[in-house]
Amino acid sequence: MMSTSSKENTEEIFRDIKRNLTRGVKDRKHNFHTPVFSNLNGDGEIDSRVVVLRNFDPLKMILNFHTDFRSPKAIDLKHNNNSLFVFYDHKLKIQLRVKTTSILNNQNGIAEEMWEKTRLFSRKCYLTTKIPSSITALPEDGIPNHLVGKEPNLEESEKGFKNFTVVENKINEIDWLYLEISGHRRLKLIFKEQKPEYHWIIP
Ligand SMILES: Cc1cc2nc3c(=O)[nH]c(=O)nc-3n(C[C@H](O)[C@H](O)[C@H](O)COP(=O)(O)O)c2cc1C
Repeated sequence: MMSTSSKENTEEIFRDIKRNLTRGVKDRKHNFHTPVFSNLNGDGEIDSRVVVLRNFDPLKMILNFHTDFRSPKAIDLKHNNNSLFVFYDHKLKIQLRVKTTSILNNQNGIAEEMWEKTRLFSRKCYLTTKIPSSITALPEDGIPNHLVGKEPNLEESEKGFKNFTVVENKINEIDWLYLEISGHRRLKLIFKEQKPEYHWIIP
């Protein structure tokens, strides 16, 4: 547990943010494991959805999640790579609003490296014949009939690789908010070089 004064020390707050994002990747029960990710679609409308945090690089300040290359968000990010994550943990009483620039990795070295670590069960998501988010006449998950209710074998799973996409999101800004009855605190961290620029703001 951080003491209250540690919530007034910019360097300590930054270290704590990095610690919790790292935990969010590894600990499936940590609230930071499933942030909300937002971007703009082609009509300039906001789209938000929950994603699984797959990696955090504390040196490069990059957050990763995985998606299908055919999904609307992947298509939209190619046209507009401005994006945003929202994290909230009620035990920590901390909200992070993280402004990012997204980079799609499909059928490249980064995608290969992560695909190797993806279990057969998870690879199944990338084997739908119909495009993700497309309209269908029946309630179904789009998985081919012969795979319903079972894991694909390794060879079959490889068909999903072309759809598998690692979305890297370079952090530009973090808006940190700590809610505490005795006094809320809010800090903006702006990343230009390695070291962030800090600005206290009114919560
Ligand atoms: C707990 C949870 C985790 C999810 N993780 C992911 C994910 O890591 N990647 C992903 O593309 N969709 C994930 N989804 C599904 C998305 O929220 C979304 O419904 C789907 O990707 C379609 O979004 P789109 O139409 O905006 O592309 C997850 C949903 C839930 C509820």
